[in-house]
Amino acid sequence: MQVFVSLFLLAVVASIVYILTSNRKQQRQQSDYKSKYVSDEPLPEPTPLWDLTPERLKTYDDRPWRPFRWPYHQTMSIFKLDINHWLDMDKWYHRYVTEKMDIIRRTGKEYCDTLPDGEDAAEELLDIVVDHLTKRYPRLFTRSPIGLDNHVTGEKMDLRRPLKEPALHYVARLAKEDFYLVKKRDDGRHYLVAAVVPAPGGFFGVQNKIGQHLDVIHTEVPYYEEKLKVSMERWFARMKVSDPVERASWFICWDHELSCNGIYSLEDGATVPSDTSFSKYNVRVCRQTLRRLPKSNAIIFSNHPIFYSIEEMKDEPFVPSILKKVVLEGPEKILKYKGFEKFDQHLVPYLDSLIQRQIDLGIIKADDPIKTSKSYPFADWYDIAEKHTGKGYTNPYWAKHDLQMPEPLGIPVHDEKKGPKL
Ligand code: HEM
Repeated sequence: MQVFVSLFLLAVVASIVYILTSNRKQQRQQSDYKSKYVSDEPLPEPTPLWDLTPERLKTYDDRPWRPFRWPYHQTMSIFKLDINHWLDMDKWYHRYVTEKMDIIRRTGKEYCDTLPDGEDAAEELLDIVVDHLTKRYPRLFTRSPIGLDNHVTGEKMDLRRPLKEPALHYVARLAKEDFYLVKKRDDGRHYLVAAVVPAPGGFFGVQNKIGQHLDVIHTEVPYYEEKLKVSMERWFARMKVSDPVERASWFICWDHELSCNGIYSLEDGATVPSDTSFSKYNVRVCRQTLRRLPKSNAIIFSNHPIFYSIEEMKDEPFVPSILKKVVLEGPEKILKYKGFEKFDQHLVPYLDSLIQRQIDLGIIKADDPIKTSKSYPFADWYDIAEKHTGKGYTNPYWAKHDLQMPEPLGIPVHDEKKGPKL
């Protein structure tokens, strides 16, 4: 009997010790997490843009990105993100969310999927998107007893739990961005655990990439091993909830397809159709942000295209010159990755004529050195544009030279029979 009582007491003491130590371990892990990722500075709330009504959104332009650099080296090129700009709005919002959902509906999990260990992050992303949109754009999105009213598309979104659709479907209908959700797994490396990416612009099959490590996802990216890999891993390991960043990459195309631009669907060795009008050429800026979610600890990578016609940038100092420089003299692997050889012979004479025009108008001098603009990554008129007034960022060059703003090129509505170019 005495032995039994002693064993019982021993078991009780052991359980208490276990509970206390595991609690302490949990607390230590939580405080490790806190000191690692959550800085004492909370992320500020977005400032409401009261002026931006659904009516005004129809003509509202996004910030004028010009992420052109010379010399051109492959670098992380990230900037601190003002949280107000996490999910920027522009006149293409309605068009984008409609087309994205159309692509997802027709392609199933090819452009949208979530692994079991990404479910919590996908729901958290949805919550944070709803929170951001209703706070930043209070005239466009309002909370409702069942979820959210979208005053641009007219959708009354039912967000009661349990959700009736995958969380990322709601995200795709709310934000015009594509989202990649990345988590650190036990081996300390970062993996893609969920993605909703109907508008990558080139080829990105979610099914080939989901569950893969970031090195695999960046296999095709030029100079990744030499220039990006180490700094990216180091930066991910330190990234805090309060440190969101943004970056932008770009390529040149002659259409406005969201899922895959013509330049990436040409046959090997084929070049741009020779009758392509110069007015069709545009720069597809892939505007990206990175932020860490506070609960799931996932890193959210967003990406969305903004198309700027070369025509609308033609009187901005050095834009045609720097485009020509990069297209002809950029690092070899980058030229290939961006497909410049598919149109350079066609486009360069046009760029030459724009450079001559800038010299004739006194915008630049023939012997001025070509270098990254002081206003990089934005247009030189970004600072004088009316900011945060609900009017958008209108290019003043058109007014200065008494030129008519060109009609928006229009993003073609998807042909149901043709389907997306996959
Ligand atoms: C600081 C972080 C990152 C940097 C510096 C970076 C850099 C790059 C670069 C340089 C490219 C080539 C296109 C370009 O010129 O921009 C690229 C492509 C890409 N990145 Fe990242 N990236 C980062 C984070 C991420 C994350 C978190 C994801 C999420 C999965 C991601 C997914 C992709 C994809 C899908 C592509 C296209 C790959 C392809 O061409 O097949 N990136 N990235």
